[in-house]
Amino acid sequence: MLPNPYTPGGRPRVFVGRDDERRALRDRLARVIAFGEMAGPLTIVTGPRGLGKTSLLRDVADQAAVDGFVVVWAAGVKRQPVLRDLAMKVRSALERADVLDSPHTRQRFKELGVRFHLGVASVEAKFGPAADADASAAVALTDIEDLLFEASNAVRRRGGAGLLIVLDELHAPLDPRSGSDHSPDPAALRDVALLMNAFQNMDAERERFPLAVVGAGLPQTKSLLTRAATFGERTHETILSELDENTSQAVLVEPARQLGVTWRDEAISAAVARADGYPQALQVIGAAAWETARPGTGGEITLSDVERSSAEVDAQMGSMFGARWDVATGYERRLMRAMAELEGDIVARRDIAERMGVRSGDLGVARASLISKGIIEPAGHGSLRFTIPGFDAFVRDRGDD
Ligand SMILES: Nc1ncnc2c1ncn2[C@@H]1O[C@H](COP(=O)(O)OP(=O)(O)OP(=O)(O)O)[C@@H](O)[C@H]1O
Ligand SMILES: [Mg+2]
Repeated sequence: MLPNPYTPGGRPRVFVGRDDERRALRDRLARVIAFGEMAGPLTIVTGPRGLGKTSLLRDVADQAAVDGFVVVWAAGVKRQPVLRDLAMKVRSALERADVLDSPHTRQRFKELGVRFHLGVASVEAKFGPAADADASAAVALTDIEDLLFEASNAVRRRGGAGLLIVLDELHAPLDPRSGSDHSPDPAALRDVALLMNAFQNMDAERERFPLAVVGAGLPQTKSLLTRAATFGERTHETILSELDENTSQAVLVEPARQLGVTWRDEAISAAVARADGYPQALQVIGAAAWETARPGTGGEITLSDVERSSAEVDAQMGSMFGARWDVATGYERRLMRAMAELEGDIVARRDIAERMGVRSGDLGVARASLISKGIIEPAGHGSLRFTIPGFDAFVRDRGDD
Protein backbone atom coordinates (compact mmCIF):
# COMPACT_ATOMS: atom_id res chain seq x y z
CA MET A 1 0.00 0.00 0.00
CA LEU A 2 1.15 3.55 -0.76
CA PRO A 3 1.70 6.05 2.06
CA ASN A 4 -1.26 8.29 2.86
CA PRO A 5 -0.54 11.67 1.21
CA TYR A 6 -3.12 13.70 3.18
CA THR A 7 -2.15 15.85 6.10
CA PRO A 8 -5.02 16.72 8.45
CA GLY A 9 -3.78 19.50 10.73
CA GLY A 10 -0.34 19.46 9.15
CA ARG A 11 1.38 21.17 6.32
CA PRO A 12 -0.12 20.02 2.99
CA ARG A 13 2.06 17.88 0.77
CA VAL A 14 0.66 19.73 -2.22
CA PHE A 15 -0.30 23.34 -1.62
CA VAL A 16 -3.25 24.30 -3.82
CA GLY A 17 -4.94 27.57 -4.79
CA ARG A 18 -4.70 30.87 -2.90
CA ASP A 19 -3.17 32.40 -6.02
CA ASP A 20 -4.28 35.97 -5.34
CA GLU A 21 -3.07 35.89 -1.76
CA ARG A 22 0.27 34.38 -2.74
CA ARG A 23 0.74 36.93 -5.48
CA ALA A 24 -0.05 39.85 -3.16
CA LEU A 25 2.42 38.63 -0.55
CA ARG A 26 5.12 37.95 -3.11
CA ASP A 27 4.65 41.41 -4.64
CA ARG A 28 5.45 42.89 -1.26
CA LEU A 29 8.56 40.77 -0.91
CA ALA A 30 9.63 41.77 -4.41
CA ARG A 31 10.08 45.30 -3.12
CA VAL A 32 12.63 44.11 -0.61
CA ILE A 33 14.46 42.12 -3.25
CA ALA A 34 14.54 44.90 -5.83
CA PHE A 35 15.14 47.97 -3.70
CA GLY A 36 16.50 46.60 -0.43
CA GLU A 37 13.75 48.47 1.40
CA MET A 38 11.01 47.54 3.81
CA ALA A 39 8.04 45.77 2.24
CA GLY A 40 5.50 48.18 3.73
CA PRO A 41 3.52 48.11 6.95
CA LEU A 42 2.73 44.84 8.68
CA THR A 43 0.66 42.50 6.52
CA ILE A 44 -1.54 39.93 8.23
CA VAL A 45 -3.44 36.93 6.93
CA THR A 46 -6.54 36.26 8.98
CA GLY A 47 -9.23 33.61 9.08
CA PRO A 48 -10.83 30.97 11.27
CA ARG A 49 -8.95 27.89 12.47
CA GLY A 50 -8.09 25.39 9.78
CA LEU A 51 -8.59 27.77 6.85
CA GLY A 52 -4.95 27.54 5.80
CA LYS A 53 -3.18 30.58 7.23
CA THR A 54 -0.09 28.72 8.38
CA SER A 55 0.04 26.68 5.18
CA LEU A 56 -0.07 29.85 3.09
CA LEU A 57 2.67 31.52 5.06
CA ARG A 58 4.83 28.39 4.90
CA ASP A 59 4.45 28.39 1.15
CA VAL A 60 5.37 32.07 0.90
CA ALA A 61 8.28 31.64 3.33
CA ASP A 62 9.71 28.73 1.32
CA GLN A 63 9.63 30.76 -1.86
CA ALA A 64 11.20 33.68 -0.01
CA ALA A 65 14.06 31.47 1.17
CA VAL A 66 14.66 30.43 -2.44
CA ASP A 67 14.68 34.13 -3.36
CA GLY A 68 17.43 34.84 -0.85
CA PHE A 69 15.59 35.85 2.30
CA VAL A 70 16.64 34.70 5.72
CA VAL A 71 13.34 33.64 7.27
CA VAL A 72 12.53 34.01 10.95
CA TRP A 73 9.42 32.07 11.94
CA ALA A 74 7.85 32.84 15.31
CA ALA A 75 4.46 31.87 16.69
CA GLY A 76 2.63 33.80 19.38
CA VAL A 77 1.66 31.99 22.56
CA LYS A 78 -1.49 32.68 24.54
CA ARG A 79 -0.95 35.65 26.86
CA GLN A 80 2.84 35.43 26.60
CA PRO A 81 5.29 38.23 25.73
CA VAL A 82 6.86 37.94 22.29
CA LEU A 83 10.01 40.03 22.05
CA ARG A 84 12.51 37.82 23.78
CA ASP A 85 11.53 34.81 21.73
CA LEU A 86 11.60 36.84 18.53
CA ALA A 87 15.05 38.26 19.26
CA MET A 88 16.34 34.79 20.02
CA LYS A 89 14.97 33.47 16.75
CA VAL A 90 16.41 36.36 14.76
CA ARG A 91 19.80 35.64 16.21
CA SER A 92 19.70 31.92 15.57
CA ALA A 93 18.39 32.40 12.01
CA LEU A 94 21.35 34.65 11.28
CA GLU A 95 23.75 32.18 12.81
CA ARG A 96 22.29 29.35 10.76
CA ALA A 97 22.53 31.41 7.59
CA ASP A 98 26.07 32.33 8.57
CA VAL A 99 25.57 36.03 7.92
CA LEU A 100 27.06 37.36 11.15
CA ASP A 101 30.07 38.23 9.08
CA SER A 102 32.27 40.81 10.75
CA PRO A 103 33.54 40.97 14.35
CA HIS A 104 31.65 44.27 14.55
CA THR A 105 28.31 42.61 13.67
CA ARG A 106 28.98 39.82 16.14
CA GLN A 107 29.71 42.35 18.85
CA ARG A 108 26.52 44.29 18.05
CA PHE A 109 24.50 41.12 18.32
CA LYS A 110 26.07 40.26 21.61
CA GLU A 111 25.09 43.66 22.98
CA LEU A 112 21.58 43.38 21.61
CA GLY A 113 21.36 39.89 23.09
CA VAL A 114 21.99 41.43 26.48
CA ARG A 115 19.30 44.02 25.88
CA PHE A 116 16.82 41.27 25.05
CA HIS A 117 18.00 39.14 27.97
CA LEU A 118 19.30 36.35 25.80
CA GLY A 119 21.70 34.25 27.80
CA VAL A 120 21.10 34.31 31.52
CA ALA A 121 24.73 34.78 32.56
CA SER A 122 25.16 38.06 30.74
CA VAL A 123 21.78 39.27 31.90
CA GLU A 124 22.56 38.67 35.52
CA ALA A 125 25.88 40.44 35.15
CA LYS A 126 24.11 43.48 33.81
CA PHE A 127 20.78 43.63 35.59
CA GLY A 128 21.12 41.34 38.59
CA PRO A 129 19.28 38.06 39.19
CA ALA A 130 15.83 39.64 39.37
CA ALA A 131 15.98 40.85 35.80
CA ASP A 132 14.66 37.67 34.27
CA ALA A 133 11.41 37.92 36.18
CA ASP A 134 10.26 40.65 33.85
CA ALA A 135 12.08 39.51 30.79
CA SER A 136 11.53 42.30 28.35
CA ALA A 137 10.90 45.28 30.62
CA ALA A 138 14.21 46.86 29.76
CA VAL A 139 13.78 46.55 26.02
CA ALA A 140 13.04 49.83 24.30
CA LEU A 141 11.73 50.74 20.91
CA THR A 142 15.21 51.62 19.68
CA ASP A 143 16.49 48.17 20.68
CA ILE A 144 13.98 46.51 18.38
CA GLU A 145 14.78 48.87 15.56
CA ASP A 146 18.51 48.30 16.11
CA LEU A 147 18.08 44.55 16.14
CA LEU A 148 16.10 44.50 12.92
CA PHE A 149 18.37 47.07 11.28
CA GLU A 150 21.49 45.06 12.07
CA ALA A 151 19.88 41.75 11.16
CA SER A 152 18.32 42.77 7.85
CA ASN A 153 21.40 44.64 6.69
CA ALA A 154 23.71 41.79 7.66
CA VAL A 155 21.70 39.56 5.31
CA ARG A 156 21.84 42.14 2.54
CA ARG A 157 25.61 42.66 2.92
CA ARG A 158 26.11 38.96 2.35
CA GLY A 159 24.23 39.17 -0.93
CA GLY A 160 20.86 38.02 0.42
CA ALA A 161 17.53 39.71 -0.28
CA GLY A 162 16.79 40.65 3.31
CA LEU A 163 15.00 39.41 6.38
CA LEU A 164 11.48 37.95 6.39
CA ILE A 165 9.79 37.75 9.77
CA VAL A 166 6.70 35.58 10.03
CA LEU A 167 4.54 35.99 13.12
CA ASP A 168 2.00 33.18 13.25
CA GLU A 169 -0.80 33.05 15.87
CA LEU A 170 -0.47 36.80 16.27
CA HIS A 171 -3.75 37.05 18.18
CA ALA A 172 -2.60 34.67 20.90
CA PRO A 173 -0.41 37.00 23.00
CA LEU A 174 -3.30 39.48 23.10
CA ASP A 175 -5.93 36.92 24.10
CA PRO A 176 -8.23 38.41 26.72
CA ARG A 177 -8.12 37.00 30.23
CA SER A 178 -11.75 35.87 29.95
CA GLY A 179 -15.00 36.77 28.29
CA SER A 180 -15.84 39.30 30.95
CA ASP A 181 -12.35 40.74 31.35
CA HIS A 182 -11.02 41.91 28.00
CA SER A 183 -7.66 43.04 29.31
CA PRO A 184 -4.71 41.28 27.72
CA ASP A 185 -1.64 40.25 29.68
CA PRO A 186 0.25 43.51 30.42
CA ALA A 187 3.69 42.19 29.45
CA ALA A 188 2.37 40.65 26.24
CA LEU A 189 0.52 43.85 25.41
CA ARG A 190 3.60 45.96 25.96
CA ASP A 191 5.66 43.71 23.69
CA VAL A 192 3.12 43.79 20.88
CA ALA A 193 2.70 47.56 21.21
CA LEU A 194 6.47 48.02 21.04
CA LEU A 195 6.68 45.81 17.97
CA MET A 196 3.87 47.63 16.19
CA ASN A 197 5.47 50.97 16.96
CA ALA A 198 8.84 49.73 15.76
CA PHE A 199 7.33 48.51 12.46
CA GLN A 200 5.64 51.85 12.02
CA ASN A 201 8.85 53.83 12.62
CA MET A 202 10.80 51.54 10.36
CA ASP A 203 8.31 51.86 7.55
CA ALA A 204 8.71 55.65 7.74
CA GLU A 205 12.44 55.13 7.04
CA ARG A 206 11.96 52.14 4.87
CA GLU A 207 15.10 52.51 2.74
CA ARG A 208 17.16 51.58 5.82
CA PHE A 209 15.47 48.19 6.34
CA PRO A 210 15.60 45.31 3.82
CA LEU A 211 12.82 43.61 5.72
CA ALA A 212 9.31 42.20 5.44
CA VAL A 213 6.99 41.30 8.29
CA VAL A 214 4.00 39.05 7.70
CA GLY A 215 1.62 37.82 10.37
CA ALA A 216 -1.32 35.44 10.69
CA GLY A 217 -4.09 35.05 13.21
CA LEU A 218 -7.75 34.53 13.93
CA PRO A 219 -10.29 37.02 12.54
CA GLN A 220 -10.06 39.31 15.57
CA THR A 221 -6.30 39.90 15.09
CA LYS A 222 -6.55 43.28 13.44
CA SER A 223 -8.82 44.76 16.06
CA LEU A 224 -6.59 43.37 18.83
CA LEU A 225 -3.58 45.00 17.19
CA THR A 226 -5.45 48.27 16.81
CA ARG A 227 -6.31 48.21 20.47
CA ALA A 228 -2.66 47.50 21.35
CA ALA A 229 -1.27 50.34 19.24
CA THR A 230 -3.07 53.03 17.32
CA PHE A 231 -0.98 52.15 14.26
CA GLY A 232 -2.59 48.75 14.25
CA GLU A 233 -5.31 50.03 11.97
CA ARG A 234 -2.75 50.60 9.23
CA THR A 235 -2.05 46.91 9.19
CA HIS A 236 -2.74 45.44 5.79
CA GLU A 237 -5.16 42.56 6.18
CA THR A 238 -5.78 39.65 3.82
CA ILE A 239 -8.85 37.67 4.85
CA LEU A 240 -8.86 34.00 3.89
CA SER A 241 -12.15 32.49 2.90
CA GLU A 242 -13.29 28.95 2.12
CA LEU A 243 -11.88 27.26 -0.98
CA ASP A 244 -13.94 27.25 -4.17
CA GLU A 245 -15.05 24.02 -5.76
CA ASN A 246 -12.17 23.63 -8.23
CA THR A 247 -9.57 24.28 -5.58
CA SER A 248 -11.30 21.91 -3.18
CA GLN A 249 -11.16 19.20 -5.82
CA ALA A 250 -7.47 19.84 -6.41
CA VAL A 251 -6.71 19.51 -2.67
CA LEU A 252 -7.98 15.92 -2.94
CA VAL A 253 -6.91 14.99 -6.45
CA GLU A 254 -3.35 16.31 -6.62
CA PRO A 255 -1.70 14.41 -3.75
CA ALA A 256 -3.25 11.17 -5.05
CA ARG A 257 -2.33 11.85 -8.65
CA GLN A 258 1.32 12.24 -7.69
CA LEU A 259 1.22 8.66 -6.41
CA GLY A 260 -0.59 7.37 -9.49
CA VAL A 261 -3.99 7.13 -7.77
CA THR A 262 -7.21 8.63 -9.17
CA TRP A 263 -10.43 9.77 -7.54
CA ARG A 264 -13.66 8.72 -9.27
CA ASP A 265 -15.87 11.69 -10.18
CA GLU A 266 -18.71 10.71 -7.85
CA ALA A 267 -16.23 10.26 -5.01
CA ILE A 268 -14.81 13.72 -5.56
CA SER A 269 -18.24 15.33 -5.73
CA ALA A 270 -19.33 13.73 -2.48
CA ALA A 271 -16.11 14.64 -0.69
CA VAL A 272 -16.11 18.24 -1.90
CA ALA A 273 -19.76 18.69 -0.94
CA ARG A 274 -19.10 17.31 2.51
CA ALA A 275 -16.09 19.62 3.16
CA ASP A 276 -17.95 22.75 2.08
CA GLY A 277 -14.72 24.55 1.17
CA TYR A 278 -13.05 23.95 4.51
CA PRO A 279 -9.41 22.90 3.91
CA GLN A 280 -9.04 21.05 7.19
CA ALA A 281 -12.10 18.94 6.39
CA LEU A 282 -10.75 18.16 2.91
CA GLN A 283 -7.58 16.75 4.42
CA VAL A 284 -9.53 14.74 7.01
CA ILE A 285 -11.82 13.33 4.32
CA GLY A 286 -8.93 12.58 1.98
CA ALA A 287 -6.97 10.78 4.68
CA ALA A 288 -9.97 8.71 5.81
CA ALA A 289 -10.98 7.73 2.26
CA TRP A 290 -7.39 6.73 1.53
CA GLU A 291 -7.22 4.54 4.64
CA THR A 292 -10.40 2.81 3.53
CA ALA A 293 -9.36 2.40 -0.10
CA ARG A 294 -5.75 1.45 0.63
CA PRO A 295 -4.90 2.02 -3.03
CA GLY A 296 -1.77 0.87 -4.80
CA THR A 297 -0.26 2.56 -7.87
CA GLY A 298 -2.91 2.76 -10.59
CA GLY A 299 -5.64 2.37 -7.95
CA GLU A 300 -8.80 4.42 -7.42
CA ILE A 301 -10.77 6.02 -4.66
CA THR A 302 -14.47 5.39 -5.16
CA LEU A 303 -17.73 6.77 -3.80
CA SER A 304 -18.01 3.68 -1.65
CA ASP A 305 -14.62 4.49 -0.02
CA VAL A 306 -15.87 7.98 0.77
CA GLU A 307 -19.12 6.64 2.18
CA ARG A 308 -17.51 3.90 4.21
CA SER A 309 -15.03 6.35 5.76
CA SER A 310 -17.69 8.88 6.64
CA ALA A 311 -18.09 7.70 10.24
CA GLU A 312 -14.36 8.14 10.75
CA VAL A 313 -14.61 11.67 9.30
CA ASP A 314 -17.49 12.45 11.65
CA ALA A 315 -15.45 11.21 14.58
CA GLN A 316 -12.42 13.30 13.67
CA MET A 317 -14.34 16.46 12.89
CA GLY A 318 -16.39 15.84 16.02
CA SER A 319 -13.33 15.66 18.20
CA MET A 320 -12.09 18.92 16.70
CA PHE A 321 -15.43 20.58 17.27
CA GLY A 322 -15.74 18.93 20.68
CA ALA A 323 -12.50 20.54 21.82
CA ARG A 324 -14.09 23.91 21.12
CA TRP A 325 -17.38 23.00 22.74
CA ASP A 326 -15.52 21.91 25.87
CA VAL A 327 -13.93 25.31 26.43
CA ALA A 328 -17.29 27.09 26.27
CA THR A 329 -19.26 28.04 29.37
CA GLY A 330 -22.86 26.95 29.92
CA TYR A 331 -24.18 30.30 28.78
CA GLU A 332 -21.95 30.27 25.69
CA ARG A 333 -23.31 26.82 24.82
CA ARG A 334 -26.85 28.12 25.06
CA LEU A 335 -25.92 30.89 22.68
CA MET A 336 -24.32 28.45 20.22
CA ARG A 337 -27.31 26.16 20.38
CA ALA A 338 -29.68 29.04 19.65
CA MET A 339 -27.49 30.07 16.73
CA ALA A 340 -27.35 26.53 15.34
CA GLU A 341 -31.09 26.08 15.55
CA LEU A 342 -31.86 29.30 13.71
CA GLU A 343 -32.33 29.22 9.96
CA GLY A 344 -29.38 30.27 7.74
CA ASP A 345 -25.60 30.70 8.06
CA ILE A 346 -25.83 34.28 9.23
CA VAL A 347 -28.08 34.93 12.18
CA ALA A 348 -29.20 38.17 13.76
CA ARG A 349 -28.19 38.81 17.34
CA ARG A 350 -31.74 39.89 18.05
CA ASP A 351 -33.08 36.49 16.95
CA ILE A 352 -30.53 34.64 19.04
CA ALA A 353 -31.50 36.62 22.12
CA GLU A 354 -35.19 36.03 21.47
CA ARG A 355 -34.64 32.30 21.14
CA MET A 356 -32.67 32.24 24.39
CA GLY A 357 -35.31 34.33 26.11
CA VAL A 358 -32.87 37.09 27.07
CA ARG A 359 -32.29 40.67 26.00
CA SER A 360 -29.94 41.35 23.09
CA GLY A 361 -27.64 43.35 25.37
CA ASP A 362 -27.17 40.32 27.62
CA LEU A 363 -25.26 38.48 24.88
CA GLY A 364 -22.28 40.84 24.91
CA VAL A 365 -19.93 38.91 27.17
CA ALA A 366 -20.59 35.45 25.73
CA ARG A 367 -20.43 36.83 22.21
CA ALA A 368 -17.02 38.45 22.81
CA SER A 369 -15.70 35.32 24.44
CA LEU A 370 -16.81 33.04 21.61
CA ILE A 371 -15.23 35.41 19.10
CA SER A 372 -11.92 35.38 20.93
CA LYS A 373 -12.05 31.58 21.08
CA GLY A 374 -12.39 31.58 17.29
CA ILE A 375 -15.80 29.84 17.27
CA ILE A 376 -18.05 32.59 15.92
CA GLU A 377 -17.44 35.83 14.06
CA PRO A 378 -19.37 39.02 13.34
CA ALA A 379 -21.07 38.94 9.92
CA GLY A 380 -22.23 42.42 9.10
CA HIS A 381 -24.14 44.67 11.44
CA GLY A 382 -25.74 42.93 14.42
CA SER A 383 -25.25 39.44 12.99
CA LEU A 384 -23.08 36.44 13.73
CA ARG A 385 -22.02 33.23 12.09
CA PHE A 386 -20.00 30.15 12.99
CA THR A 387 -16.46 30.35 11.67
CA ILE A 388 -16.23 26.75 10.49
CA PRO A 389 -18.49 24.85 8.10
CA GLY A 390 -20.19 21.97 9.85
CA PHE A 391 -20.00 23.38 13.36
CA ASP A 392 -23.70 24.25 13.38
CA ALA A 393 -24.64 20.66 12.52
CA PHE A 394 -22.31 19.41 15.23
CA VAL A 395 -24.06 21.63 17.80
CA ARG A 396 -27.52 20.50 16.67
CA ASP A 397 -26.50 16.84 16.81
CA ARG A 398 -25.24 17.09 20.36
CA GLY A 399 -28.67 17.43 21.83
CA ASP A 400 -28.80 18.80 25.37
CA ASP A 401 -26.08 18.37 27.94
N1 LIG B 1 -3.95 25.68 0.13
C1 LIG B 1 -4.04 24.46 0.69
N2 LIG B 1 -3.88 23.35 -0.04
C2 LIG B 1 -3.97 22.13 0.52
N3 LIG B 1 -4.23 21.91 1.83
C3 LIG B 1 -4.40 22.99 2.62
C4 LIG B 1 -4.32 24.31 2.09
N4 LIG B 1 -4.54 25.19 3.09
C5 LIG B 1 -4.73 24.44 4.19
N5 LIG B 1 -4.65 23.13 3.94
C6 LIG B 1 -4.84 22.03 4.92
O1 LIG B 1 -5.85 22.46 5.83
C7 LIG B 1 -5.49 22.20 7.18
C8 LIG B 1 -5.43 23.49 7.97
O2 LIG B 1 -4.41 24.33 7.47
P1 LIG B 1 -3.56 25.32 8.40
O3 LIG B 1 -3.01 24.59 9.57
O4 LIG B 1 -2.62 26.02 7.51
O5 LIG B 1 -4.72 26.30 8.89
P2 LIG B 1 -4.64 27.53 9.89
O6 LIG B 1 -5.53 28.57 9.32
O7 LIG B 1 -3.23 27.89 10.14
O8 LIG B 1 -5.32 26.91 11.19
P3 LIG B 1 -5.09 27.32 12.73
O9 LIG B 1 -5.81 28.62 12.94
O10 LIG B 1 -5.70 26.20 13.50
O11 LIG B 1 -3.60 27.44 12.96
C9 LIG B 1 -4.17 21.44 7.12
O12 LIG B 1 -4.48 20.08 7.20
C10 LIG B 1 -3.60 21.78 5.76
O13 LIG B 1 -2.87 20.68 5.27
MG1 LIG C 1 -2.11 27.98 11.85
